[in-house]
Amino acid sequence: MLAKALSSAVVGLDSELVEVEVHIDYGKSTVAMVGLPDPAVAEAKERVRAAIRNSGFDFPSRRLTINLAPADLRKEGSAYDLAIAIAILSANGVVKDEHVRNRLFLGELAFEGVVRPTSGMLPMASVAPTNGIREVFCPTANASEAALVAGIEVVPVDSLSQLVGHLQGFLTIPAHEAESANSHELVSYESDMSEIRGQEHVKRALEVAAAGSHNVLLTGPPGAGKTLLARAMPSILPAMTPTEALDVTRVYSVSGLLPSDTPLVRQRPFRSPHYTVSHAGLVGGGNTPRPGEISLAHRGVLFLDEMPEFASHSLEALRQPMEDGMVTISRASGSLTFPAKFMMIGAMNPCPCGYFSDPGRECTCSPSSIVRYQKRLSGPLLDRIDINVEVPRVAYEKLTSVIMPEGSADIRERVQRARERQLERFSDTSQTCNADMGPAQVREYCTVEPAAQALLRQAMTQLHLSARAFHRTLKLARTIADLAGEAVITSTHVAEAIQYRPRQSV
Ligand SMILES: Nc1ncnc2c1ncn2[C@@H]1O[C@H](COP(=O)(O)OP(=O)(O)O)[C@@H](O)[C@H]1O
Ligand SMILES: [Mg+2]
Repeated sequence: MLAKALSSAVVGLDSELVEVEVHIDYGKSTVAMVGLPDPAVAEAKERVRAAIRNSGFDFPSRRLTINLAPADLRKEGSAYDLAIAIAILSANGVVKDEHVRNRLFLGELAFEGVVRPTSGMLPMASVAPTNGIREVFCPTANASEAALVAGIEVVPVDSLSQLVGHLQGFLTIPAHEAESANSHELVSYESDMSEIRGQEHVKRALEVAAAGSHNVLLTGPPGAGKTLLARAMPSILPAMTPTEALDVTRVYSVSGLLPSDTPLVRQRPFRSPHYTVSHAGLVGGGNTPRPGEISLAHRGVLFLDEMPEFASHSLEALRQPMEDGMVTISRASGSLTFPAKFMMIGAMNPCPCGYFSDPGRECTCSPSSIVRYQKRLSGPLLDRIDINVEVPRVAYEKLTSVIMPEGSADIRERVQRARERQLERFSDTSQTCNADMGPAQVREYCTVEPAAQALLRQAMTQLHLSARAFHRTLKLARTIADLAGEAVITSTHVAEAIQYRPRQSV
C-alpha cells in the first residue's frame, strides 16, 4: 500500500514543497525513513509512532518505508510530523487518499498526539498557492500567521485525532477567519523625542535619516544623550508598506520570534545587539543558518551602541550587506541569502576617556590612543555612513527649560510625507526609499540645480569624496529635498547633506 501527503520545508526565507511517501509492505515490523538528516529521523519516527498510538489508531506492524522527497533538499525542523502521520494513516486505510490529496499538512506532533506550533509557518504555507493547493492544515497557534498567505484556506488543528475526524467527515474544524487587515491598532513607543532636551541638530539629522533610511553615526561625550536619542528613533520612523511588513514577518517567522496573537510585524524593527554579540549572531549563520541581527533589522534600524567596542571583523562584515541590502551565508551544502536592508545608527565616544573635544572637561587620552580608538571604524565603513553628527553635552539651561521640545508624532508626520514621495518615485520598483537607489536612479532622480553643482564639485575635492560618498551625498540631498517637498535639489539641500560628511578630527 502506498500513500502520499504534502508538507513544506523552509529554505532560507523561502520554502519548497515536500512530498511524504509511505509504503507499507508485508514483512518484519520495521520503519525506514529516508530524506531527513540522520539525527532528526529517529526523533521523528518516535514522535509520529507515539502520536498515532496515543490518538487511538494502529501503527502498522509491518515493513514501513517513509520517503521525504526531494531527497537532496536539506530539511530542517519538525514540521513534517503531521504529513508523515497522515500519510501513514492513509496507507493504513484510516483516511481516504482523496481527502489527503492536494492539501498541505504542517506541524510537529507531541507524543500524546497534540499538534505543536513551529517556526517558519509563513514561508512554509507560501508553497500552497504556487502549487495549486487551496487548503492548509497547521497548528492552531500558527493559524493567523499562515493566513497571511493570500488565496488559501487555513484550518487550525489541535490534535491528530481531531484532524483525522475532520478528514473522515465526523467533525468539522472551522477554517481560520482572517482578521481584517486594516485593524488600525494604536502603537505606543517606549520613548518620545519630546523627552529629550536640546540636541535640535541631532533630532534634525535623525529626521532626515528616518525619512530616507540613511546611516548615522552619533559621536559625543558620555551622558550627552546618544543612547537616549537612538532609542527614540522608532517613534519617528515611517510606517511600513504591506510588502515590507510581510518581508520582515518572514525573517521573524523563520527565527521563531513571532508572537502567535499578532503574527504580522507592523512596526519597523529596532535591533540593538550588545557589542559582545557573536559574528554569527550579528550577520547570521550557524549550523542551521539563522538570520542574524542585521536581517532582524531588515527594513528597520540596527543600533550599534559603543560602536568601537564591536569586534572589528564583525564591523567589517557589515560592509557588504550595507551595500547590497542582503547577506550571503556560505556553508558546505550551498549558500543562503537573507535580506538585510537596514538603517544603521552607530554611537561612540570621541576617545577612550570620552571627553575629547568637550569644552567643559579635559580629555586625558594621548593623541595616539585617540587615533587608535577612532581607527577602529575603518575608512570603508565610515564611507558608508551618510550622516555624522556630534552630540555635545546639553547645557544646564536647556535641560531645565520649561519649553517642551517638539514631540515624535509631528516629526513622524513629516517623515511619513517624505517617504510617500519616495514610494511614488519608486512605484515601478520594489524599492521604498532613497537610500536604496542604484547609480542609474541617482542619475535619474537626483537632478541638482546649477548652483548646487558648483557646491558639490567643491566638496568633492575639499573633502576627498569617493565616488561612493558622492552618490551617497546626492541621495541624502534627495531626501532633504523630499522633506522640504521640493522636486529639484537646491544648494540648501546639498549644503546640509555635505555638512553631514565626516570631518577629520585629529
Ligand atoms: N538631552 C537630554 N535631555 C534629557 N535628558 C538627557 C539628555 N541627555 C542625557 N540625558 C539623561 O542622561 C542619561 C544618559 O544619557 P545617555 O543617552 O545614556 O548618554 P550617552 O549614551 O551619550 O552616554 C539619560 O538616560 C537621560 O536621563
Ligand atoms: Mg550611551
